[in-house]
Amino acid sequence: MPESRVPRRRRFLVCEPRHFAVQYAINPWMHPDRPVDTGLAQRQWRELVRAYRAHGHTVDTVEPVPGLPDMVFAANAAVVVGGRVFGSLYKAPERRPESVPYDTWFKAAGFDVYRPESVSEGEGDFVPAGRWILAGTGFRTTREAHREAQEFLGVPVIGLTLVDPYFYHLDTALFVLDEENIAYYPEAFSPGSREVLARLYPDAVIATREDATAFGLNSVCDGRHVFVSPGATALAGELARRGYVPVPVDLSEFHKAGGGIKCCTQEIRS
Ligand code: ARG
Repeated sequence: MPESRVPRRRRFLVCEPRHFAVQYAINPWMHPDRPVDTGLAQRQWRELVRAYRAHGHTVDTVEPVPGLPDMVFAANAAVVVGGRVFGSLYKAPERRPESVPYDTWFKAAGFDVYRPESVSEGEGDFVPAGRWILAGTGFRTTREAHREAQEFLGVPVIGLTLVDPYFYHLDTALFVLDEENIAYYPEAFSPGSREVLARLYPDAVIATREDATAFGLNSVCDGRHVFVSPGATALAGELARRGYVPVPVDLSEFHKAGGGIKCCTQEIRS
């Protein structure tokens, strides 16, 4: 077993939370009347970037734009597989303008960006998992976008239906550990999707509701280290038992917007 899990260096794209706020409510976590501590958010976010770099990962940044308070959630801007960038079409009109600065960043970095015709929220709902891509639908990304992504990326897309509004993006209910395995919270999925996950991943790490509501499934794993919310204690224990190394990073201010570690992280897979 897991004596030595092997990490792989990643390239991440992030966006500083300079203009982060909760100004509208597009998921059940968001309460615009509840204040956000922007200074604390900035410190927490810098800690995440520091942790990535300390573990050997490359972190690029996109310049934040005033008036786009959710732009910090870089995961939603695209899903990148084999250097192909499948861009986003946000469901909420408030977030649609975020595509412009992200697409500009990708183009300047030498990537072409595919613009989907149907609502699609990047790595929020598209989770590359080795030989295929797991794709969520039910709240944001549509089945039609799953079809577009499969056609553009040339990778099989496995559709999964989300049923709990607190876990409105696939990356709030599931994360990838390595090419072969994942961690997830079954109750976030329809019965049929639960069966699909059980069939594909008989050895998956199963998270509790407490883990999931602490944003424990909004984690980033490099194959060995799991950058994980410190509130997900049962999950961290199980990961450690399986030979992974939990690296706790507290993004509590971002939970107020319905986001965590993975939401703040876009992975550039070349
Ligand atoms: N407030 C944002 C929204 O509801 C949070 C996005 C979280 N991102 C994620 N990848 N789950 O759209």
